[in-house]
Amino acid sequence: METLIVCKSYHHGNTWKVAESMAGVLDAEIIEPEEDYSSNLSDYDLLGFGSGIYWASFHGDIFDFVQDLPVVEGKKAFIFSTSGMWNIPIINGFGGKIRDRLSEKGFEIVGGFSCGGYNIFFLFKLVGGIHRGKPNEENLKEAKEFARRIEEKGGW
Ligand SMILES: Cc1cc2nc3c(=O)[nH]c(=O)nc-3n(C[C@H](O)[C@H](O)[C@H](O)COP(=O)(O)O)c2cc1C
Repeated sequence: METLIVCKSYHHGNTWKVAESMAGVLDAEIIEPEEDYSSNLSDYDLLGFGSGIYWASFHGDIFDFVQDLPVVEGKKAFIFSTSGMWNIPIINGFGGKIRDRLSEKGFEIVGGFSCGGYNIFFLFKLVGGIHRGKPNEENLKEAKEFARRIEEKGGW
């Protein structure tokens, strides 16, 4: 399965570490959303979209990248994020909006992964930040297991 991972990670590179762990399992290429890959899209069966969570959502550059994609057929996608707060899937989590945009483009969503990421934004700086050291070894191991499930079973 040819896989491309699109990742936005500007705060501490937290999400990029998760992307690298997943890419190692999936033998995937990782790009930043600023790169225009729409013409190469036919090369890939599976796309991963990862982002730090900024203002309760994926970064706008990921939305722009998805917006510029053509409508696809027979392609799968997964999403992943790191965040300073807890992702609460019951209210659709931080990935709800990007999932909707990907579905509108014709992707079958086969998985979602999230974990904590070191955060010193705003008031958290005053207390030395939260989630120090994250994503840690355990988080990256879980990210690899997630990627393995996608690879072996086509979903999570
Ligand atoms: C401008 C800004 C806004 C943020 N907003 C949120 C937020 O709304 N919810 C949250 O859980 N974390 C928030 N965070 C924390 C980041 O999601 C967290 O540190 C993440 O791991 C950053 O990923 P990165 O290092 O890949 O950029 C914010 C961080 C920054 C810099």
